Amino acid sequence: MAVTGLIMIGFLLMHMYGNLKMFYQADNFHAFDHYAHWLKGKTDDGGILYPIMPAGTFIWVFRFVLLASVILHIWSAASLSAKTLAQRGDKYSNQKKKVQTYSSRTMRWGGIIIAAFLIFHLIQFTIVPGSLGAGGSGDQPHRMVLASFSLWWMVVLYAICMVLIVMHIRHGFWSAFATLGGNLSAKSRQLLNVLAIIVAAVLFVGFMIMPLAVLIGVIG
Ligand code: HEM
Repeated sequence: MAVTGLIMIGFLLMHMYGNLKMFYQADNFHAFDHYAHWLKGKTDDGGILYPIMPAGTFIWVFRFVLLASVILHIWSAASLSAKTLAQRGDKYSNQKKKVQTYSSRTMRWGGIIIAAFLIFHLIQFTIVPGSLGAGGSGDQPHRMVLASFSLWWMVVLYAICMVLIVMHIRHGFWSAFATLGGNLSAKSRQLLNVLAIIVAAVLFVGFMIMPLAVLIGVIG
């Protein structure tokens, strides 16, 4: 869970950075479109990692790693949940609840809602580009972004999902480093806690600032 979770947090930080390119060259969104095409090997220079790999290969390696991470993460979550439920025993003899944060109590449901968000998100922008409220096509990704986030309900939907995602990440980031041996002293626990809050806050602001800017007309 720890390693696959950290791989996905790394992806999200990169994805957030890519989305912020909507603010750069915002008169024609060339920077955002070029970056999206470069990742897919569709630019004249052969794109990312060309010629180490043939043009357009990297994105599939990347997708494979991400998909494997998602599957292994869900598999670990399911087997951990089954273990926890088996060990909990007779619920009448074990009613004392431990002190838990809101995020840690909602990891299971949070994870399921995030998976649902991801399916919606991938259909909208990747599998059927321009569907489910997004306009345009994959040839000019900025058009899909502008069309979808001009809709107030889409921005609200994304904001709700992002709150759930960063809550999941705050607790997940903490747990991941705890699993990997990072919570050996009160000081390191405190540091981990602060770092987890910073990563969650950066992801929330970094992801939501662009849809909000589109909605209120700062870019577009
Ligand atoms: C406000 C938040 C977000 C925005 C505006 C956004 C926007 C986009 C856009 C425009 C694309 C298509 C890019 C292209 O065609 O080149 C995309 C792809 C993707 N997004 Fe997001 N995204 C957001 C949040 C997320 C989150 C939270 C996740 C994961 C939980 C995520 C996972 C993905 C994945 C896996 C892809 C497909 C990458 C590929 O083509 O292989 N996104 N996103």
